[in-house]
Amino acid sequence: MEDEKKLIQFQQKIDQDIKIEPRDWMPEKYRQTLIRQISQHAHSEIIGMQPEGNWLTRAPSLRSKKILMAKIQDEAGHGLYLYCAAETLGIKREQFLQWLHEGKAKYSSVFNYPTLTWADMGAVGWLVDGAAIVNQVSLQGTSYGPYARAMVKICMEESFHQRQGFEIMVQLANGTKEQKEMAQDAVNRWWWPSIMMFGPHDSESAHSNQSLKWKIKRESNDELRQRFIDKTIEQGHHLGLIFPDPNLKLNPETNHYDYSPIDWDEFWNVVKGNGAGNRQRLNHHIKAHEDGKWVREAAIAYAKKSNLKQKSA
Ligand code: 3HC
Repeated sequence: MEDEKKLIQFQQKIDQDIKIEPRDWMPEKYRQTLIRQISQHAHSEIIGMQPEGNWLTRAPSLRSKKILMAKIQDEAGHGLYLYCAAETLGIKREQFLQWLHEGKAKYSSVFNYPTLTWADMGAVGWLVDGAAIVNQVSLQGTSYGPYARAMVKICMEESFHQRQGFEIMVQLANGTKEQKEMAQDAVNRWWWPSIMMFGPHDSESAHSNQSLKWKIKRESNDELRQRFIDKTIEQGHHLGLIFPDPNLKLNPETNHYDYSPIDWDEFWNVVKGNGAGNRQRLNHHIKAHEDGKWVREAAIAYAKKSNLKQKSA
């Protein structure tokens, strides 16, 4: 009875757009959904550093190297921000990382695709970060306070990420024949994995109904996917790039772009670990975590020592 009353009060807060804070009562399923989504979001940010890190030593100029380095550092910060938000739900970061290393937690499947040319740095920034912005701007309205607040800083930095990627695409699309071909090749390989980032269709989404009721999600997977497609097509056409979908057509009745069916077999195949980069991404993450063990131990020892000093002072 008690919980029934609490559940009604909880839903009233959600309906009135009152943010839920860490110490508030919340349904266990609400907590579990947030633990799952925020920690997987954080994993995506950190693993997402790898495809771009691959080009740091091969950036074509000092300027482009500095920009790419700044972007990758931002992603690390986003990951730390999101792990902190997820930890407010009562789970330690080490546990999140263990679940990731054991294959019990996901990260965005888009990061399992290889970055083959410098044009991929443009396509990732323009398309992958562009898709992330659409999703994350919507998440600024999420009902869980720490998650919503983390989104504000992240979204500001994401817009720089998208612009730096688009700038690379502009340079290549207006460059030599080979550069134009590189830009087109990158769009051909990154378009579909980018629109898959929004998750399964609403009718197939395991969590969306409840996540929308609890305003963890403010808009559905398909709504956000459509918004991303509608705004990106115009940008690509401006660069003279062709999207790898012959059925992309502006529907005069809906004023949205129609698109071909998404290859969900490919999506789930990559999510299940059979993508080109899954094993390499996870092994790299595990090795980096092990290599950094001494840094964590030293930082914890130093923190303990300085706490002891403060107490005895
Ligand atoms: N990659 C991998 N798994 C995915 C996925 C994707 N693109 N989309 C959905 N899934 C998984 C879900 O995690 C869920 O599996 P689970 O129950 O084991 O977690 C299953 O597919 C069913 O999907 P649902 O749509 O029902 O799941 P959600 O309600 O969680 O919605 C989501 C999926 C829209 C990705 C949502 O989790 C979300 O908005 N997450 C926060 C944003 C995020 O994680 N973005 C990832 C990219 S971050 C990024 O791009 C960084 C940028 O700087 C480059």
